[in-house]
Parts: sequence; C-alpha cells; structure tokens
Amino acid sequence: MKEILQRWRAIDGTWLEMRRMRPSDAPKVKESLNRLSPDARRSRFFASIAEFSDDAVRRLVDVDPRNEYLLVVTRRDNGMEIPIAGGRFVQQNDGTDCTFSLLIGDPWQGQGIGRRLLKALMREASRRGLRRMCGQVLAGNRPMLALARSLRFAIVDSEQDAGVVEVQRQLAATAWQRWRAFLQSAWRR
Ligand SMILES: CC(C)(COP(=O)(O)OP(=O)(O)OC[C@H]1O[C@@H](n2cnc3c(N)ncnc32)[C@H](O)[C@@H]1OP(=O)(O)O)[C@@H](O)C(=O)NCCC(=O)NCCS
Repeated sequence: MKEILQRWRAIDGTWLEMRRMRPSDAPKVKESLNRLSPDARRSRFFASIAEFSDDAVRRLVDVDPRNEYLLVVTRRDNGMEIPIAGGRFVQQNDGTDCTFSLLIGDPWQGQGIGRRLLKALMREASRRGLRRMCGQVLAGNRPMLALARSLRFAIVDSEQDAGVVEVQRQLAATAWQRWRAFLQSAWRR
C-alpha cells in the first residue's frame, strides 16, 4: 500500500488508485491503449495509431526515472489492476523545464482524473526543482485546453506545427527549495 499515492472513488463508486508506473505494467497498459478511441489516440499522440505494438508500449512504460516521471491510475477487477489513465513529464536537458502529457481512458474522461494527474505531476516537478512545465496540445482539444487554463497554464503558439498549441506555466518552488536557495545565497555572500 505504501506505493499508492492517492486512492479515491470515481463517480460510479469504483475505487481508483494512483501510483508510479512500473515496467511490469506494460502488458496491461497495452490492452488499455488498444481500447482507446481514435480521437483519444490522436489527441495524445497526434497520429492515428491503429495498433500499439509491444515495442511501442515498452518505450512508453520503461523510462529512465531520473529524467521521466510516469504515473498510472488503475482500477481493480477481481484483484487485478487495470490501467485506466496515465500522465508523465519528461525533463528537458537544461534541467529546469519539463514537458507533460496525459491520457485518460474514454469512459473515465470528464471525472477529474486528468486534473488530479496534472496536479500530481506539477507537485513532483516542483519537488525536483523544475521551474517550468509545458505541453503540446492539438489546437482543437477543448477539454485539455480548459483543464490547462483552469490550472493557470498560458496557451501560446507552438513551434511544432500549425494545428498544435503549447500550454506552459511556471512552477512554484517548494518551501525546501526556497530554503535551499536562501542558504546558497547566504553562503555565497
Ligand atoms: C484531455 C484530458 C487529459 C482531460 O482529462 P479529464 O480527466 O477528462 O479532465 P477532467 O475531468 O480532469 O477535467 C478538468 C477540466 O477540463 C475541462 N473539461 C473536461 N472535459 C471537458 C469536455 N468534454 N469539454 C470541455 N471541457 C472539459 C473542464 O474545465 C474541467 O474542469 P471542471 O472539472 O471544473 O469541469 C482527457 O480527456 C484525455 O486524456 N483526452 C485524450 C488524450 C488527450 O487529449 N491528452 C492531452 C494531450 S497532453
């Protein structure tokens, strides 16, 4: 139970749990990805993916934990964990920025799961000392843009392509980071 970060009931009463993704989740994640609607696939991957291969899923799930933070939300079915949503951020080379993405299974959208995941990603990114979070979003993805706006992300043109916008916001430093910065500046004086 220690590794469960959050546990709550969905609108229909199902218990949901949030924890870090593990490489061993790959087979179940593959099943869940292959159940996604074409719209959800396109909104997350910006492409029409017909079938997620083992390799593609491994690349998504088996990440370097120093640079990437990957969360999964699961429900239980006869004691078995079924992934229903996920979120990640990838740290950029400069060590101050990160890029996030979210994916909620179709039947679970619009129930606050994306908001929970994004807030959990923001907390962890702040804890790691990252200062800015951004994400690439299809310009027509109203739910994602509404979610981003409600969490005070700015929406700007993306360099990626015409149909894509970037959502971005500064991350607040944690109390510990403010204290560390204070100590460092006091030490330098
Ligand atoms: C976009 C996505 C991540 C949002 O997650 P979600 O769990 O469905 O959203 P939430 O229930 O947390 O909603 C958060 C806010 O988004 C907005 N929102 C959610 N669904 C919406 C919809 N269908 N239409 C308009 N706004 C919507 C609302 O402002 C909502 O705030 P509220 O709770 O005050 O009403 C999710 O729908 C998804 O995974 N879609 C497919 C993949 C994708 O688009 N990924 C984003 C690329 S990074």
